Amino acid sequence: MKTSISVSLALSLGSWLGLVNAYWRMTCSVAQTGRVDPILSPGSVSGHVHLLSGATNVNTTSDYDTLSVASCTTCSVQKDLSAYWTPLMYYQFANGSLTPVPNDGTVVYYLGRGVDVANAIPFPKGLKMVSGDSTVRSYDNTTMTYGNSTYPSRPVADRVSFVCIDYTNETPQTTFLNNTDCPDGLRAQIQFQSCWDGVNLYKSDQSHVAYLSQIDNGACPPTHPYLMPHLFFEIYYFPNSMDTSDGGQFVFSNGDTTGYGFHGDFMDGWDNDVLTEAVAQCLVNDTDGVISECAPLEASQDDYYANNCPERPALVDEQVKGILSKLPGCNNVTSGPEAAPQGICSTEPSLITPEDTDGETRVKPTINSTTVTMSSGSTATYYGCYIDETSGRALSGASTTNSTGMTTALCGAYCQNKGYSVFGTEYSDECYCGSSISASYATNETGCAMACIGNLTEYCGGSARLSVWLISGNETDSSTSSGPTVANSTYISCYSDGTSGRTLTTRTTDSSMTLAECASIAQTSNYKYFGLEYSDECWVGNTLASTGTTLAEGKCDMTCAGNTSEICGGSNALSLFQNKLYEQPGNPSTVNITGKSAQFGYLGCYTEGTSGRALGGSSSYSTTSSSMTVELCVAACYARGYDYAGVEYSDECYCNNIGITNGATTASSGCSMICDGNVAEYCGGSNRVNVYELKNSTSASRLARREQQHSRRFMLSHWFGLS
Ligand SMILES: *[C@@H]1O[C@H](CO)[C@@H](O)[C@H](O)[C@H]1NC(C)=O
Ligand SMILES: *[C@@H]1O[C@H](CO)[C@@H](O)[C@H](O)[C@H]1NC(C)=O
Ligand SMILES: *[C@@H]1O[C@H](CO)[C@@H](O)[C@H](O)[C@H]1NC(C)=O
Ligand SMILES: *[C@@H]1O[C@H](CO)[C@@H](O)[C@H](O)[C@H]1NC(C)=O
Ligand SMILES: *[C@@H]1O[C@H](CO)[C@@H](O)[C@H](O)[C@H]1NC(C)=O
Ligand SMILES: *[C@@H]1O[C@H](CO)[C@@H](O)[C@H](O)[C@H]1NC(C)=O
Ligand SMILES: *[C@@H]1O[C@H](CO)[C@@H](O)[C@H](O)[C@H]1NC(C)=O
Ligand SMILES: *[C@@H]1O[C@H](CO)[C@@H](O)[C@H](O)[C@H]1NC(C)=O
Ligand SMILES: *[C@@H]1O[C@H](CO)[C@@H](O)[C@H](O)[C@H]1NC(C)=O
Ligand SMILES: *[C@@H]1O[C@H](CO)[C@@H](O)[C@H](O)[C@H]1NC(C)=O
Ligand SMILES: *[C@@H]1O[C@H](CO)[C@@H](O)[C@H](O)[C@H]1NC(C)=O
Repeated sequence: MKTSISVSLALSLGSWLGLVNAYWRMTCSVAQTGRVDPILSPGSVSGHVHLLSGATNVNTTSDYDTLSVASCTTCSVQKDLSAYWTPLMYYQFANGSLTPVPNDGTVVYYLGRGVDVANAIPFPKGLKMVSGDSTVRSYDNTTMTYGNSTYPSRPVADRVSFVCIDYTNETPQTTFLNNTDCPDGLRAQIQFQSCWDGVNLYKSDQSHVAYLSQIDNGACPPTHPYLMPHLFFEIYYFPNSMDTSDGGQFVFSNGDTTGYGFHGDFMDGWDNDVLTEAVAQCLVNDTDGVISECAPLEASQDDYYANNCPERPALVDEQVKGILSKLPGCNNVTSGPEAAPQGICSTEPSLITPEDTDGETRVKPTINSTTVTMSSGSTATYYGCYIDETSGRALSGASTTNSTGMTTALCGAYCQNKGYSVFGTEYSDECYCGSSISASYATNETGCAMACIGNLTEYCGGSARLSVWLISGNETDSSTSSGPTVANSTYISCYSDGTSGRTLTTRTTDSSMTLAECASIAQTSNYKYFGLEYSDECWVGNTLASTGTTLAEGKCDMTCAGNTSEICGGSNALSLFQNKLYEQPGNPSTVNITGKSAQFGYLGCYTEGTSGRALGGSSSYSTTSSSMTVELCVAACYARGYDYAGVEYSDECYCNNIGITNGATTASSGCSMICDGNVAEYCGGSNRVNVYELKNSTSASRLARREQQHSRRFMLSHWFGLS
């Protein structure tokens, strides 16, 4: 599981700090876990394990200068390359072995506190300080902060506190580790000295700094007149995620089961100009603590710091995670009340110098790199940031993850090999392939801000966000190899429509449109082509308008209204198919009347007249049928004694004895509607009729047919399905 800082946990701050003035809050994931402490143990292995946040390059020799060249910080504001650390909490099983308690990183607060807050100064460049005492195991009620009659003092021991979080029951804050049955997490908290002597950046007895008279408020002592931001850490642990049924105990890495020995360290690495601006503008003003409301900080806020600046490999050659037989270092587990001085080991593990991944200055990824060349030599072009859904992927083809090496090119090569032309990277290390992506998933770039785990200068999407790319030159290849498949149909390509005329003639809209439904419409009506557009439209036709043209597959990016795993075109774009069952329709040149020697011959396509039907006249007849065919119409007319028969508008049939009375012959293209009862025949068109004429007709034969017809009227009405 990836580190994700739960900001919601940080919102209960006000309960303890009483008076909430302006402040800002940065969430910080883990930069390093190990016996590293560049303040108290520079150049060597620290006495106990720390959880370090901030500058990614923090190591045993860090100072302001080296921190400030770090390529990134695990805190949200990238211009703050400070380091922040505290002892790590473990669970000690009843049998003595230990394992770290899961934590969610550190939340660092910069609070505007103290009566003189309006005159607060930024941390002097290079300041270092430690708050708390690792050796204590009891509450010291005698060592007090500075105070006088106006500004009362307070036990310094109050700098440490714990909150066992239970959102349903308010729990008291304690200065020691008391209740660890915390449904919503345990917060270990440490407050820092806010008053500076104006001279020293560090003194090992911490006398260069002093607490406010009330620690989190009040006045600075006259010896330390410079008020700085009030620094406060919250570290979120999840003791309830441990199985504690064996009756073990929680203990900090310094051997402290009481919590009194909890402490925090700060080493400044700020871009001093940014800190100066932030202190001036936001320590008085930003009452929400939100970085985005503090312009100097927002400028370098990275929503994906936790992923874009991952925890570095261990710097000390020893195990500090997993199941341990003892606390790293020489730390006996003690519960006080007497102090427990830091144990010194006779031998220490060696320091290791992991591959300096930090040497290359990290470049903020930019979406302006819109093309990437893949190993195949093909080029991928950036297409945009898209929303992905865990149920029903936006790119539903093959997928892969590479938690160490994912890059745009790697994902592109993977998808190209699988025959896909569209790919997307997500959550820094995931890769998804597809043939197209629905425009409905398009979003702004904000969510695609995670660097690729394998190339920190490239973006690889975000949480539920895909950085989508198109492989150039492969748009149409892939469509045939991996395009959508529909039975008895051949996918042609994504095809333009609508911008300068319709590509296909006839539209059916259905809110549950699928590829199969449109195919069925085309097959039923014997259309040569069908195309889906805009999710819910099915267009059919027998010719493709010359205004249409092949488009890049990516333009067909909308899922079908009735099946989100299928693509149904896009805006002005058809997912175009050819119907393999299509039969070229025609006009039968002769129609024989079943059981008779009579035969009708085709006359041609005629327009209906403006003042009457083409087959008009006083004794004309007409009917309609949802199963109309040329044969049916001709037989019906013949049965009624008519010599002329005409089919129109797919389902209409007209009869008369006098032939064309109105209208005129016209181009056969006007009579291109398929008969409702036979997809291989034309039945006229709109105001266009295909006319057939009885060969060798005589008036006697017509009369005879009418006589017969009369007795069959009832039957005929059934036969035609007339209502
Ligand atoms: C600590 O980090 C700095 C900056 O990356 C580097 O120059 C220095 O060599 C490192 N020290 C050790 C002991 O690795
Ligand atoms: C400090 O604590 C001790 C032991 O609990 C108690 O006897 C003493 O009165 C306390 N002193 C003050 C100043 O509160
Ligand atoms: C310590 O925790 C227990 C519950 O485990 C609670 O009853 C008690 O009030 C707590 N003590 C303090 C001082 O908060
Ligand atoms: C109390 O301390 C503050 C801050 O140092 C100082 O300004 C003030 O004069 C002091 N008041 C008294 C009564 O000593
Ligand atoms: C830790 O405990 C062992 C055994 O009880 C003892 O010999 C050793 O001195 C202790 N170390 C410290 C630093 O207290
Ligand atoms: C990136 O593109 C934007 C918009 O086209 C432009 O304003 C910006 O200057 C570009 N940045 C770089 C680093 O090229
Ligand atoms: C991840 O990518 C790297 C760099 O391309 C490669 O060396 C490694 O084999 C990949 N790992 C997996 C599991 O595919
Ligand atoms: C298209 O992709 C295939 C793999 O599916 C690859 O073999 C071919 O070279 C690619 N064509 C181009 C022009 O990139
Ligand atoms: C980008 O989209 C997010 C929601 O995904 C929204 O909160 C944000 O305001 C958008 N940003 C811009 C610049 O449109
Ligand atoms: C990282 O990505 C950038 C931008 O796409 C590219 O120029 C660079 O060559 C890549 N680096 C590596 C090692 O692949
Ligand atoms: C494809 O067409 C053939 C011939 O009309 C038909 O037998 C078959 O059922 C059709 N297949 C599907 C899946 O519709």
